[in-house]
Amino acid sequence: MGMISCNSLTTNPSCHLAGSVVVPGDKSISHRAILLGAMAVGETRIAGLLEAEDVMSTIGAVRLLGASVEKSECGDWHVWGVGTGGFHEPENVIDCGNSGTSARLLIGAVSTTPISVLFTGDNSLRARPMQRAIEPMQQFGARFQARTGGRLPLAVRGARNAIPIRYTLPVASAQIKTAVMLAGLAAPGKTSVIEPAATRDHTERMLGAFGASVQVESIPEGRLICVDGHAELGGQEITVPGDPSSAAFLAAAAAMTEGSDVSLQGIGVNPTRTGFFATLREMGAEMEYGNQRIEGGEQVADIRIRGSSLRGVEVPSARAPSMIDEYPILAVAASIAEGKTIMRGARELRVKESDRICAMVEGLRACGVDVVEYEDGLEVLGKGPGSVAGDAICASHMDHRIAMSMLCLGLAANKPVGVDDIAPIATSFPGFIDTLTRLGAKVSSSAD
Ligand code: S3P
Repeated sequence: MGMISCNSLTTNPSCHLAGSVVVPGDKSISHRAILLGAMAVGETRIAGLLEAEDVMSTIGAVRLLGASVEKSECGDWHVWGVGTGGFHEPENVIDCGNSGTSARLLIGAVSTTPISVLFTGDNSLRARPMQRAIEPMQQFGARFQARTGGRLPLAVRGARNAIPIRYTLPVASAQIKTAVMLAGLAAPGKTSVIEPAATRDHTERMLGAFGASVQVESIPEGRLICVDGHAELGGQEITVPGDPSSAAFLAAAAAMTEGSDVSLQGIGVNPTRTGFFATLREMGAEMEYGNQRIEGGEQVADIRIRGSSLRGVEVPSARAPSMIDEYPILAVAASIAEGKTIMRGARELRVKESDRICAMVEGLRACGVDVVEYEDGLEVLGKGPGSVAGDAICASHMDHRIAMSMLCLGLAANKPVGVDDIAPIATSFPGFIDTLTRLGAKVSSSAD
């Protein structure tokens, strides 16, 4: 093993993970609850908000835009909004940290209000494409100054007399769909967005609850979503379910380790998010949904998962939008499975918090896994339990999901797996290491 820093961590071969855990709140729903609360009139109360760095970036931003956000003693969060079109011009730059969702959603939310807003982010976010958000906003009438390639930092001058648009998404992106819908709220008339493939629909659901008029229909080109402008949103009570994208790491850890039996409580199972669970089941994982219910307009279930013999599968490309954040952990599960797992049609992985195809190919190969890299995905040639050497230190590339994925691999490899920098995990799953440890995983710091 090579040089390690104080932010590094190692996981060791583990088995019999057991227990029942609550996973932190859904990141996508948390961002939306804060942002819609900030665009509503009156008070929004949020239970179960994800208290992680990405969501704190959105909270910091809406405060600069004039909303009040406070946490109460019971742990709920309260937002007092300024109404659609009511954002104030911020006195300082909005720093979105590592959060692409904050940046894209906020660019949409401010683009139809006549204020100037400056956005920046960390090294990872400043390398990510923002042109996809800029382009539809220019059609509304907003003006932009951005770095070459539409990168942050950028400045927006929101449109004074916005024009409603009809926009077809060039890539399957819930962030861009949401940005267009949020911009449409403060524009006149009806704004329409067409998505060729269905992406997570939390915005559509939540906007309806806030009192906006949202219409969704299937058309030959895909899914058409229309939102009426000059909307009056009223404060709401929101319950945030557990994040299925965070639960995915624990589900995979349990499925990959012998004798494990783990229950994950209150996980969001909205069908636009459950592609990973469907795939894990197809791989042979013993997994059940219990106590299925609707909470705050979202489907929720408790998930029980046991150590299982996994086999390789071909993941249909059409499933990509419903599991786009789960490919790194799926690639890890695939390396412990028997046979080939093919993951294609996921080019978007190249522009996430890191180039996730590249990061996973590098990390898996360092641990002795046979991997083929494609422009739009990867193929993992799994050789079953006991076949992954481990004994490597992997780079997290400032990407929470790469860090958590490689740590999960260390539980099922023959020798420990280290991750050079686990700090990014705080962007989405602050208690991840504690939760793993509580389930019985063997985790050691570099100093041990
Ligand atoms: C998100 C949408 C997805 C996802 C991201 C969260 C959202 O990104 O990867 O983690 O909350 O809308 P894209 O919209 O770029 O697909």
